[in-house]
Amino acid sequence: MSVNRYLMTLTGLAEILRRRPRMLARDYEQLDGLPLVGKSLDPATVRQVLTDIGVDYGFRSIAHVNLRGGIGKTTAAITLAWRAASYGFKTCLLDLDPQGSATLALGVTPDDDAATFIDVWNDPDELLEEALVPVKDHLALLPSALENSLLDSAMARPAAQKQAVAATLRRLRELGYDLVVIDCPPSLGAAVISSVCAVDTVVVPVWSDPFSIKGLELARQEISQICETFGLQSPAVKVLYSRYDRREAISDKTLEQLRGRFREALLPLRIRVSSEFSKALAEGRTVFEARRKNGAADDYDAYVRHILHIDSAL
Ligand SMILES: Nc1ncnc2c1ncn2[C@@H]1O[C@H](COP(=O)(O)OP(=O)(O)O)[C@@H](O)[C@H]1O
Ligand SMILES: [Mg+2]
Repeated sequence: MSVNRYLMTLTGLAEILRRRPRMLARDYEQLDGLPLVGKSLDPATVRQVLTDIGVDYGFRSIAHVNLRGGIGKTTAAITLAWRAASYGFKTCLLDLDPQGSATLALGVTPDDDAATFIDVWNDPDELLEEALVPVKDHLALLPSALENSLLDSAMARPAAQKQAVAATLRRLRELGYDLVVIDCPPSLGAAVISSVCAVDTVVVPVWSDPFSIKGLELARQEISQICETFGLQSPAVKVLYSRYDRREAISDKTLEQLRGRFREALLPLRIRVSSEFSKALAEGRTVFEARRKNGAADDYDAYVRHILHIDSAL
């Protein structure tokens, strides 16, 4: 039998809690008699166990933003959303990039007339629920398509920008979601402005390329300006080093620079460069659906646990 290393099995969950699987199973009726490996636990059970040790499932929203393309925004968004669902978060991924890379990467091919953000932002109470596509247990997606490139003109009024993502998040909360993950396009247009107005955390992926650091600086300035203009409290800004290559001196040099200039914002972890990402993309899966232990999944698991405060409860 081929066993997926990253399935949230009884053994996997016990490892996270540093407990013996059989002892853990004794405490929960739902775990009793389950195989140790090979079968993933349903997210509701994982959630109950993690709630008992103090993991907080209160509503939160995280957008991935950088002007620079090709630095891991989409990768971070889909891996976070996918893994969070396995940890029991009822998760919705909003794909706001007209390129629809997150939608494609999750293997979703929306019909030509499928609703995307541009169709629902004005009336999410009526339209959003039906537009969501189930991806797996505890994970839904609002897909994207080229139509979303018209968002800048559709949401030209500042009031619309302030409201659009905020109203969508409100509706998702009413629908019982705990976590909304947003994949933003590489621009500072209406989708990004509206996300900044609504989310509690903005994650800016960067790597050693100077353009991505410039993108980080611009994103920080823009976030302050947007929040000042709209009279809103700024979201927390976190910097994710998303393509660390230890063979290149520039990676360590960049890390040092980031530590110096963005100390409080820089996440205390990094994602290593790995060929697992392109393999996963080619196969329409995430790095967590791999049989072998791999650095890509381990690094993103550390990101997920940190950003969702799972580690601090352990
Ligand atoms: N840590 C990494 N190591 C190697 N390749 C990566 C890594 N992160 C992302 N990639 C690859 O880089 C490309 C761009 O990543 P993506 O997440 O789409 O960036 P963005 O959304 O910022 O444009 C994709 O092909 C992805 O598989
Ligand atoms: Mg992208």
